[in-house]
Formats: sequence, structure tokens, C-alpha cells
Amino acid sequence: MQIRFTPARLAIAAAVFALGSQAHAQNAPIKVGLMLPATGTFANLGTMIENGFKLYVAEQGGKLGGQEVQYFKVDDESDPAKAADNVNKLIKRDQVDVLVGTVHSGVAQTMAKAAKESNTLLIVPNAGADVVTGPMCAKNIFRSSFSNWQPAYAMGKVAAERGHKKVVTITWNYAAGNESVKGFTEGFEAAGGKVMQALTLPFPNVEFQALLTQIAAQKPDAVYAFFAGGGAVKFVKDYAAAGLMKSAPLYGPGFLTDGTLEAQGESAQGMYTTLHYADNLNTPRDNAFRLAFAKAYKVNADVYAVQGYDAAQMLAAGLKAAGGDIKNRDKLVAGMEKAEIDSPRGKFKLSSAHNPVQDIYLRQVKGNLNEVKGVAVKALADPAKGCKM
Ligand code: BEZ
Repeated sequence: MQIRFTPARLAIAAAVFALGSQAHAQNAPIKVGLMLPATGTFANLGTMIENGFKLYVAEQGGKLGGQEVQYFKVDDESDPAKAADNVNKLIKRDQVDVLVGTVHSGVAQTMAKAAKESNTLLIVPNAGADVVTGPMCAKNIFRSSFSNWQPAYAMGKVAAERGHKKVVTITWNYAAGNESVKGFTEGFEAAGGKVMQALTLPFPNVEFQALLTQIAAQKPDAVYAFFAGGGAVKFVKDYAAAGLMKSAPLYGPGFLTDGTLEAQGESAQGMYTTLHYADNLNTPRDNAFRLAFAKAYKVNADVYAVQGYDAAQMLAAGLKAAGGDIKNRDKLVAGMEKAEIDSPRGKFKLSSAHNPVQDIYLRQVKGNLNEVKGVAVKALADPAKGCKM
């Protein structure tokens, strides 16, 4: 039998084919590439982010925007030298729809470059590298966490308000540490303070003794430090053991005491930090999140868990706007841009550079909690210098 391809028949065939492939696209699972540290000083941060992300997905019945979620994982070791290879495993080998990562600012910059070049959707669930939502900003790059400038600038203001005049800073010599010190210096010096000396050591070195001796010799009013994870535990303990806590109170962005208090014990008691999350916000939203997280993972939530949870919420908002179609990038991006995220930290929206505009809390350590003492800066937006979408 001979089939005649009339224009009408061709049009029907094309429509049936289009519907078929759309149905396939809509039924295919969303491929999420988690690029996080599973080893090294930031390993625990990576686990908390992953668990936060998965908790939100589990709360939606294992789906986002009505689609199943399939995970692909790479341990990035917080090693910038391996970052390009690692991100390409997810983009080229696994062909993920969305990258979620990472913790370390240097690794995140390589991820952002690869995401930009391949036009892969990227959600950064921690790394604060200012450039990611600054000069590197792009339609396909989002952040659920903070810029390094945000909590640091707030702490500069707080340190000056608390009457300190001369401060020494100390951090790892890499993007996050240096940007954090820069943000602190900006806030502190604008309010009349002076940074006397900026000390650094290579990431992820934890041999602090020689630098602590230098701090003691300088006799500052206070010290500002950026460390996180295992490095933060060791630094706070060494600082207290050196007997400096009274003569030069230790301040920092909340990473210095978040997820670390059990290990820091007595040494961290009474410390003030600034961050976009605290342990006892005591809102119905945060209480429900903390209960669900503790039930699921048998540990208390921290800021990293919140950032992972919110990365999944942001993706869900985009998928909802795109009718569940991850390939409908324009609608997906517009949905994420417009969303108000009902975060455990408090509701927030994204800036035009795709970074959260959020309250920065002043917190004080009491027992195993970073207790909220007030809002240091309300609705703080990163300046996003150099961002042109
Ligand atoms: C960063 O590298 O951006 C970073 C790492 C840990 C905590 C906060 C920021």
C-alpha cells in the first residue's frame, strides 16, 4: 500500500511527534549534579547541604515540579586544581540538567565558568565568591546562600558599634577569606575603625601558633577571623587556649561557629558572629524545618543545611513556573527570579544578580546554639559590582 503524504497528514504527524517528545521530556527525571566536598576540612558542610537539598525533595514526595529527581555526585575535595575535571564529569559525562555546588569559593568560580560556557543551570548552595554574582553573573547562575561581602560587612559595622577601634584580621589566603576580610574592613573603617594588620595562611592549613603569637604582640582591641568547618574548630580552640579571648574578643562571620559548636565546646562560649541564619529564630517555619531535619538525619540543622534546602526550593519554584519542563529555560529562570523563597532563615527574594537579599543576624554562642541577638543589617543586598546580565 502506498501512503500519500498530504500537507494535512504531515502536520498531524509533526504534532503527534512533538507531543510525544514533550511527554518524554516531561517524564524524564530531573538530573541534579551535586558537586560538593565529601572529604577535607569542608566535608561536613557538603553533607549538610546535600541533606538539606534532599530533605526538601523528600517533602515534595521525591519530586520537583512534578518530576522525579535523579542524583549524580562528585566529591570536589575543595580542591580548585581538580575543579574543571570534576565539573566536566557532571556536565559532559552525566549530562546533568542542573549543577548544585559548591562550598569552596575557588572551586565555585571554576564551576561558574563551566556553567556559563555550557549554559548549564547552576545553583550555588554555599560558596560566597563575590564574583559569581558580580562580574561572572549570568542568567543561568543562581545562589541560595550569601556573598562573602554580606556577613563580613555586617560584622564590620557591629565591631565598630561595640566600641572597637583597632582590629587584626586573620584568614586563609583564598577568595572567600580575602573577600570576607575586605567586606569586614569596609564596614569597620566606614564606621571609624582601623584594621592594623591582615594575617593569612594557606588554605586549608591549621598551624595557627606563629600567627597567634603575632596577634598577641600587636595588642588589638579585637580580632576578625574567617574560617569554617574543621579549620574553624581548630582556630577557635587554639585562640582560646592562647588566652586571647578576653584581651582581644574574637569576631567573625557565622561560619566560625556554625555546625562546629559541639567540637569547640567551652572555647566558643560568648562569641559574637553575624550570619543570615541563627539557631533559635523560633518561627513556625524554622521550627518545622529543624524538626524535620533532626528526624531525618539525627543531627541539628545549621546554615549549610538551610542553604541546601533553599537551593531545592529555588529549583522547585523555577520548575513550577516552567510547568515541570527543565528545558524551558526562559520560564524556569523567570520563575526563579520572581520567587519569594519561604526559607527557614526568613523569607527572601533574589537580587537582579541572583543573590539572596537577606537579613544578617547578630548571634551569640550559648551552649551548643548560635542564639539570635537581633538583626545586624536588614535586607542586605550584595553590591554586585560588575554584574551585567
Ligand atoms: C567559601 O569558600 O566561600 C566558604 C567556605 C565555607 C564557608 C563559607 C564560605
